Amino acid sequence: MQRTLITSALPYINGIKHLGNLVGSQLPADLYARYCRARGHEVLFLCATDEHGTPAEIAAEKAGKDVAEYCAELHQVQADLAEGFRLSFDHFGRSSSEQNRKLTQHLAARLDDAGLIEEIEERQMYSPTDGRFLPDRYIEGTCPNCGYDSARGDQCDNCTKQLDPTDLINPHSTISGATDLEVRTTKHLFLKQSKMRDALRDWIDSKTDWPVLTTSIAKKWLNDGDGLQDRGITRDLSWGVPVQKGDAPWPGMEGKVFYVWFDAPIEYIACGAEWADAKGLPDRDWQRWWRTDAGAEDVRYVQFMGKDNVPFHTLSFPVTMLGSGEPWKMVDYIKSFNYLNYDGGQFSTSRGRGVFMDQALSILPSDYWRWWLLSHAPESSDSEFTWENFQTSVNKDLADVLGNFVSRVTKFCRGKFGEQVPGGPAYGPQETALMDELQSRLEAYQANMDAIEVRKAATELRAIWVAGNEYLQSAAPWTTFKTDPEQAAMQVRFALNLIPFYAALSAPFIPDTAAAMAEAMNVAPDWPSDVQSAMTRLSAGDAFSVPGNLFAKITDEQREDWQQKFAGTRD
Ligand code: 2FM
Ligand code: ZN
Repeated sequence: MQRTLITSALPYINGIKHLGNLVGSQLPADLYARYCRARGHEVLFLCATDEHGTPAEIAAEKAGKDVAEYCAELHQVQADLAEGFRLSFDHFGRSSSEQNRKLTQHLAARLDDAGLIEEIEERQMYSPTDGRFLPDRYIEGTCPNCGYDSARGDQCDNCTKQLDPTDLINPHSTISGATDLEVRTTKHLFLKQSKMRDALRDWIDSKTDWPVLTTSIAKKWLNDGDGLQDRGITRDLSWGVPVQKGDAPWPGMEGKVFYVWFDAPIEYIACGAEWADAKGLPDRDWQRWWRTDAGAEDVRYVQFMGKDNVPFHTLSFPVTMLGSGEPWKMVDYIKSFNYLNYDGGQFSTSRGRGVFMDQALSILPSDYWRWWLLSHAPESSDSEFTWENFQTSVNKDLADVLGNFVSRVTKFCRGKFGEQVPGGPAYGPQETALMDELQSRLEAYQANMDAIEVRKAATELRAIWVAGNEYLQSAAPWTTFKTDPEQAAMQVRFALNLIPFYAALSAPFIPDTAAAMAEAMNVAPDWPSDVQSAMTRLSAGDAFSVPGNLFAKITDEQREDWQQKFAGTRD
């Protein structure tokens, strides 16, 4: 049996994600996980919330909550929304888990043993009022270059000059507004990434089947002088994985935590341990996915992420894994995505611009969103959500094509033959021709899904639905019935057989609707081995029921209403 390990980039904890985040990792990962399961793979699909770092601390403070309590709450919110979108994780973990703390501290010790960690003294801005060192972007002041008064410590947004916080005139903390900032020296651990350049190059070069987007970003940073700079992996914060050398203290690092980008990807692995622990399984059950000395050499590991995450997964995290000298399962395929824009601009979490997961589910069921987002996935370039486009896709693809087909054939059958599959003669030339067409479309669809070509797969699936509609239109059993009821019975039997076939193929995209379709036909939505046998799944006399309306059309009024409602920013 093929074994497939799938991870989605970990959504950051500080709020509800927007649809652009969803389509950039979690949703396509779910599509693929569902497809692989349907094809009989053994699948482990993992995701978690990414909980450490300053943004979490600040969001908690804003909410007037203790950071641990805040993260626990937001984790539950995100878990509920994931369920709402039918994201079929085997485990939705937390980077703040005990398992991740242990593994992160362990891997840091291994990297240190391998000579890949160096202690470096740094000068950093300290805010006595806030009682903490301030990360660059939490310091603002006047730009020495252009005089802009809200330049950040890392860069001036006005003139784009890269800055050091100590360059700013009249710097202040954006957390408290405090101006009594002082420069203090502090020691940090640095990961000597450049030492791994050759190993990384060999590894990346061996990935000849990666998508262009992934490879181009990986190579750009690998070859760029800055890409593999030694990287600080510790921070002066209280919320995070405490810096320890495995179980032992790390002298000089007291009170510091690992940088969030160091421990977040490690959570992919730790999430496997969380999964096993939650199920009461022994360690070897997660290790057979994650350690090549425990059975993971025959696992295919696929990661899903937005393009901004690619450098971390092609350079930094591989340095951690390869550098540890331990037999961790490395990623086989990285599927990365461009950005989804919103109605003429960008989705923005900080500005609350766009449609967020909770808002989307409050107006329509998840399948409407899943279909639009996946069929417009930003694969080869950025794509854009507009309400007009959303309305058109839903009304055409889902309501007019798929929904209408199912409704017409089941209702017609109920009216003329009752709620059981009618008999009639064997399939004729028209049915055979359609089966031939569907067979080659099925193969194309599978090839696209295997290759994780999301849009192409959606296009093929839509064509498969359209073929059924066209058949119904041209066979016209309602006309045939008037002169040849037996022939009409066969046509209806054929069309009814398309419903379980469609249910199986559509389930990765629109799982709820697919389940309703299969249930109406009283069958499990098993993946078809071939079209011929799929089309005899239902025989004369099998009972079915007419499902409720599968998709409601979006009216112009609704569209305008939502357009208005989501035009501004959320608070
Ligand atoms: O970009 C992000 O939203 C990060 N939270 C992704 C972390 S993914 C991984 F490294 F674990
Ligand atoms: Zn400036």
